[in-house]
Amino acid sequence: MLTDRRLHPPGPKGHWLSGNTFEYDRDRMGFLMRCHDEYGDVFAYDKRTIVVRDPDLVHSLLTRTNEDFSSESSPVATRFDADRSATDSRLWMAARRSGWRGLNQDAAAAHTGRLRQLFDRQLNDTVGREVDVLALMETYSGHAAADFCLGADAKGIAEVVVENTRAIAPLSGSSEVLPEWFPSRTLNRFRQARKKTLDVLSRKIAARKSAAVPENPRDLLDVLLTIRPGLSELQVQRLIRGILLAAYGVPAASMAWALWTLTTRPALWATVEAEAMAWSSEEEPTLTELPRTEAVVKETLRLWPPTWLMGRTALRATALGKWSLAPKTQIMFSPYLMHRDSRWWPDPDTAVPDRWLNGGEPIRKYTYIPFGAGPRVCLGTRLGLTQLVLTMYWLTRNYRVVAPDALAVIPVFHNLLAPYGFQATFVRK
Ligand code: HEM
Repeated sequence: MLTDRRLHPPGPKGHWLSGNTFEYDRDRMGFLMRCHDEYGDVFAYDKRTIVVRDPDLVHSLLTRTNEDFSSESSPVATRFDADRSATDSRLWMAARRSGWRGLNQDAAAAHTGRLRQLFDRQLNDTVGREVDVLALMETYSGHAAADFCLGADAKGIAEVVVENTRAIAPLSGSSEVLPEWFPSRTLNRFRQARKKTLDVLSRKIAARKSAAVPENPRDLLDVLLTIRPGLSELQVQRLIRGILLAAYGVPAASMAWALWTLTTRPALWATVEAEAMAWSSEEEPTLTELPRTEAVVKETLRLWPPTWLMGRTALRATALGKWSLAPKTQIMFSPYLMHRDSRWWPDPDTAVPDRWLNGGEPIRKYTYIPFGAGPRVCLGTRLGLTQLVLTMYWLTRNYRVVAPDALAVIPVFHNLLAPYGFQATFVRK
């Protein structure tokens, strides 16, 4: 029987030797936009990589992750190895399922109570002098992630996570993929940072295991150590390292964008500030009690999703819509482009928080994916939103922000989409 399955989508031919890498690296977003304009919602970047922008295909890709597609990625060339990836993925998924409840309820509740102190400490250290907002938010979320995972034993963790993330950045931000054995300083730094994080975690986990477990979990490690059937030490270590890394750069970039959005749009600052000032100093609102702030945060994540480009790898020969995919094909998609597509979003490039409030237009599924979706959706979706909303609440309630050059910030589509170079001074009200 004849099928209409096409083998490979059309796409730019590129240079005979370097393909499209040079053009892409010169202007990543511009390149993707030009190709989508020319070839439509699906185009081939090269023989092994296709880029999609169709919500139904993105839906299929995300919901079939683990089964037909892998989301495992490591910044070195062993990053694709179907067997290793399947084992890793099973181990991770088992740990992830067990940790889910604790992550979203017990450990999160204990942590948000302490987040306020972390925020005050960070901001107090900077008051009155101009700081780089992204760096400030990185330090804050590094400490927040360490506190969430290890509570009272968090000392020293934020520092190894910062080094680990810095060591990964030049590898994952590059279009070139190096083999793991490759003798290079960058790879050496990455290997050492990874080992140091795992060693530190291993010591902290062993120490906690030998102490009495409290009745009410104080942090994620307490939750993971009391799960029945128990997790292996490797699972606990992997889950915590994965969460520490995931809870550092992306939330920090989201917080920096949220603050940038408020600083550059005085009317939005006034709305969020008014909602914050309506609370008395004895009360502490929850996420759902700050709907206008939440709407601003969601709109910020629509306009500036830090994970602006995501991907999956075909685990076997399979199909996506009408396209046949060979094993190991990479399928990329950009939440940034999906979030700004005028077919799904009226006035897509303008910040309109009201679209998230009652009476806004219904949102087409899989056109809003700042946290991903499917079985590998962000584990910290609720925690991340809570951290963002409460941080904007504390900020607008207690501080004024002076940032005369904020409008000069231009988005850079590097490893993460973040407001690099955004400088501000925080002044106590
Ligand atoms: C605003 C803040 C955040 C944003 C925008 C965000 C976004 C994302 C995105 C886009 C992914 C990839 C999802 C996919 O591949 O389908 C992800 C994965 C992940 N996130 Fe977040 N994240 C945030 C905060 C957090 C926090 C606070 C935690 C810590 C609890 C966290 C833990 C994770 C983990 C562990 C993964 C990997 C999930 C897996 O592969 O199974 N995230 N996040």
